[in-house]
Amino acid sequence: MTPPRKISRRKLIHSSVALASTVAIGQLAGDNEWIEVTHHKLQLPNWRVSKLRAAIISDVHIYSELDIDRGLRAVKLAVEENPDLILMPGDFLSSSGGVDIVRLRKFLAGVAATGIPSFASMGNHDARAGQPIWIIKEFNNSMTKMLINDFSEFQDVVIAGLDDAIYGKPMPKPLFEGEFRPYPKDRPTILLCHEPDYAADLDFGISLVVSGHTHGGQICMPFGLPIHLPRLGKNYVSGWYPNEKTPMYVSRGIGMVGLPFRTFCRPEVAILDIEPLPQPI
Ligand SMILES: [Fe+2]
Repeated sequence: MTPPRKISRRKLIHSSVALASTVAIGQLAGDNEWIEVTHHKLQLPNWRVSKLRAAIISDVHIYSELDIDRGLRAVKLAVEENPDLILMPGDFLSSSGGVDIVRLRKFLAGVAATGIPSFASMGNHDARAGQPIWIIKEFNNSMTKMLINDFSEFQDVVIAGLDDAIYGKPMPKPLFEGEFRPYPKDRPTILLCHEPDYAADLDFGISLVVSGHTHGGQICMPFGLPIHLPRLGKNYVSGWYPNEKTPMYVSRGIGMVGLPFRTFCRPEVAILDIEPLPQPI
């Protein structure tokens, strides 16, 4: 049996200094509050409806007034892009902060004030925050449609949402193959699923999956190299993945958990222009 490798004191000091330097440089850059609006043209093979512009706001992680302010700035940036709809694939709360209904209400009121149709799914922090039923009630009283193993629609597009894959009970098979599905299977469908590694295994003819969860790594080395990634968020870190079973966009999100900062990993409002894949002549 191979004896466990010892980490030398010098190596430990070097690693600690490297991590501290990374954090310091990232903080000087002000990554926490420097929201980036990214633009992506998504050409989908089974998108048989007109073009759609979706704004993605994920992982707001409302814990303090600063988080509310950041989340509402993200909403404002999204509105400036004139999207048709806003998609929010989970983690509105921070499990360490419990269920802060008042702050959640304030954020959802900001989303409602835009007048733009919005749809959401649960994240692991929402499911773990203690009382998902309170969260659901709050969404029921808002203009944002919370989809927990459920469907809705926007124009000719079906919007679906799964329960959280870590602390909830996602039910993709009954949702997409069940006899109660109220929409034809060939209708273009966007699925909100918080954890990308879980969503990547789904193959139900879904047009597009929108995920969050990873925060893009949140604390990264230069060039956005993640130091740590969460469970079910290790394989699909951020950005556009067109060649999976289901094409998938993974947002870096807006907020933070654990250590309250980001380095080399700016918060993101993603603007997705979704259109059909051009057919060969
Ligand atoms: Fe998150």
